[in-house]
Amino acid sequence: ATPILFDCDPGHDDAIALVMAHRSPAIKLLGVTTTCGNAEVEKTTANTLRILEFIGAGDVPVAQGCHRPLARPLVLGTADGPSGLEGSPYLPQATIKPVKQHAVDFLADTLRASPEPILVVATGPLTNIGLLILKHRDVLPKIRELIWMGGVFYRRSEIITPTEFNAFCDPEALKIVLDSSVPILMVGLDVTMQVLIEAPQYAELATIDTPLGRLVNDWLLFYEKLHRNSMGVGGAMHDPLVLALAIDPTLVRTRPAHIGVNLSGSYAFGATVADFWGERGEQDNARIAHEVDADRFFKLMFDLLRD
Ligand code: BDR
Ligand code: CA
Repeated sequence: ATPILFDCDPGHDDAIALVMAHRSPAIKLLGVTTTCGNAEVEKTTANTLRILEFIGAGDVPVAQGCHRPLARPLVLGTADGPSGLEGSPYLPQATIKPVKQHAVDFLADTLRASPEPILVVATGPLTNIGLLILKHRDVLPKIRELIWMGGVFYRRSEIITPTEFNAFCDPEALKIVLDSSVPILMVGLDVTMQVLIEAPQYAELATIDTPLGRLVNDWLLFYEKLHRNSMGVGGAMHDPLVLALAIDPTLVRTRPAHIGVNLSGSYAFGATVADFWGERGEQDNARIAHEVDADRFFKLMFDLLRD
């Protein structure tokens, strides 16, 4: 199994990714670190613990991370409601606790202790990872690759924004990560908006008649409201797709590019810009995903949610 460290801000789609990470035999989940984003970090930590305990993963270490972006005030996501995980009133509060260490130091110690480089999966703003790079430079060679849900590159007709939330929330952290020479795979909104929960996916989920299946269904019904109201589509499986790539990297096609992030301006603040042709004379600093096999992704996701 591939050892991974998972940095997230649950968040309904992060929550489903977390369940998949624990249940996949292809993954060894070494620890989960939390960041602010979809909700305040205390809430994303509480949600992480609730989910892990519910799925019988109470032994996975959880370390709480940064409470605000590196250089600007916290802007919360709007899709997941005030708790960050609305729609699950029957999911109990956890009895398990986070470790005492801060996420950034937990990540560093875990990377340092590993004989092999580790895959880091990040599905929230990059504040913890940016700070890890600033504080613990010695462990960077231990990051095999960072797979991150963030940015938006190819303008597709249903994409109505030049910015993506995780990039917009902490663009300075993203800049630090992009400049770090850590290998990065970015999976942008234009790709994750191609894996939507619509009628066929709800029908599939309805066949999973377990407490977990019903919980995920409840989450999705809440989570899809924003997508349905603003764009007329079902809930996008942004973070589950990113986690799925730790299991099967062939679900997307990728291409290398130099990625920049816009740190000024108003409407395009936080926008990610890809230079595919080396026009700026900069070295490629990431690979970006640009096509996804949605059918195979959904099969993988539902197989992991099924017992
Ligand atoms: C990203 O932002 C959050 O709302 C989701 O959890 C996902 O990580 C999509 O822009
Ligand atoms: Ca997220």
